[in-house]
Amino acid sequence: VIDIGALYKHTGAFTYDPGFTSTASCESKITYIDGDEGVLLHRGYPIEQLAEQGDFLETCYLLLYGELPTAAQKKDFDHRVTHHTMVHEQMSRFFTGFRRDAHPMAVMCGCVGALSAFYHDSTDITDPHQRMVASLRMIAKMPTIAAMAYKYHIGQPFVYPQNHLDYSSNFLRMCFAVPCEEYKVNPVLARAMDRIFILHADHEQNASTSTVRLAGSSGANPFACIAAGIACLWGPAHGGANEAALNMLQEIGSVDKIPEYIARAKDKNDPFRLMGFGHRVYKNYDPRAKIMQKTTHEVLAELGHKDDPLLQVAMELEKIALTDEYFIEKKLYPNIDFYSGITLKAMGFPTTMFTVLFALARTVGWIAQWAEMIEDPQQRIGRPRQLYTGEAKRDYLPISKR
Ligand code: ACO
Repeated sequence: VIDIGALYKHTGAFTYDPGFTSTASCESKITYIDGDEGVLLHRGYPIEQLAEQGDFLETCYLLLYGELPTAAQKKDFDHRVTHHTMVHEQMSRFFTGFRRDAHPMAVMCGCVGALSAFYHDSTDITDPHQRMVASLRMIAKMPTIAAMAYKYHIGQPFVYPQNHLDYSSNFLRMCFAVPCEEYKVNPVLARAMDRIFILHADHEQNASTSTVRLAGSSGANPFACIAAGIACLWGPAHGGANEAALNMLQEIGSVDKIPEYIARAKDKNDPFRLMGFGHRVYKNYDPRAKIMQKTTHEVLAELGHKDDPLLQVAMELEKIALTDEYFIEKKLYPNIDFYSGITLKAMGFPTTMFTVLFALARTVGWIAQWAEMIEDPQQRIGRPRQLYTGEAKRDYLPISKR
């Protein structure tokens, strides 16, 4: 039997908290969540106001600098981000090294990690100016890299950024324009894309952000840290949930099948869960889900898909689940992923791109949290402890005696 007291006698208080349900890993001034009330604030501003009244680059500025920009600051920031949208031409060869059928998230992990090889001039994390250059580079290049991953995946030539366009229009054009055909960005879809990016920009110490902070705590360069965040985000319990939610809605297929799936979600012997429902922190309606639902309606109306059967299934499923005792008792409400899949599908994105879009938008949150950690004088390398439950000390036996 291991003597836990003896093992940890030098550490003072010792807590065991799998899943970090009640342990803060840092102090932060960036994002506030009240999960019981369904409140999300960035630097004090409600997500509803940012999503309705601002644009994504304004939210980026707010997350990075702590204040909303003045008109002059915004113009300068937009210009600086735009200035960095191109990726090194050599990067295109890096893409073509992947198998054509690779998942775009696998390509993203590799390509973003490789940025430090292309931009090693901004990997000096001790220099605040270089930290900001790395941050701007990442926010600016992520749409270009995401669009390249998409184009490579579908076998079309890469489309270069056009920097007279706004951030989201530029991204849509890089994804959907094809050579020899005119492509005009639909402003309703561009606005919807921008709002989806705002909704995903930051969400305090979730799994991928904690991964970025932990990787960064060793002094690793920011490109490597963001690549680690992307890898973590890929999991179906995190960023992969919108893909899973859409697959589930497609599998349900029609409103009359909903009770069968609700019954499965409640059955303890069935591992099935209603994807897009429940959240570790929100025990109320996810405020982002409400804005997402509105955006879904706007996009489907613009594209003439108002009667999309998936939307009918989603709305009916939400209605039934919200009045069901099991879901009420466990405080399971739709999260942002419940409606985002339908919207992205209607906009023309394949499900394999959903998590890529999440990563693109979350990059600013990751980099703002990383920078906050680096600037914190209390910052130390992250080093969780454990409760050892293995063998007690024993002697090595030569192989002939085992
Ligand atoms: N459907 C059915 N039952 C559920 C669901 C669900 N979607 N989510 C949780 N429950 C039940 C669990 O079975 C558990 O029941 P029990 O107490 O009887 O054992 C209880 O609710 C608590 O669930 P936990 O898994 O302990 O809650 P946790 O906080 O660890 O998990 C999570 C949160 C991972 C989001 C979970 O709700 C889930 O798996 N949801 C579906 C996946 C999803 O939508 N993920 C997106 C998260 S948001 C994001 O990353 C942007």
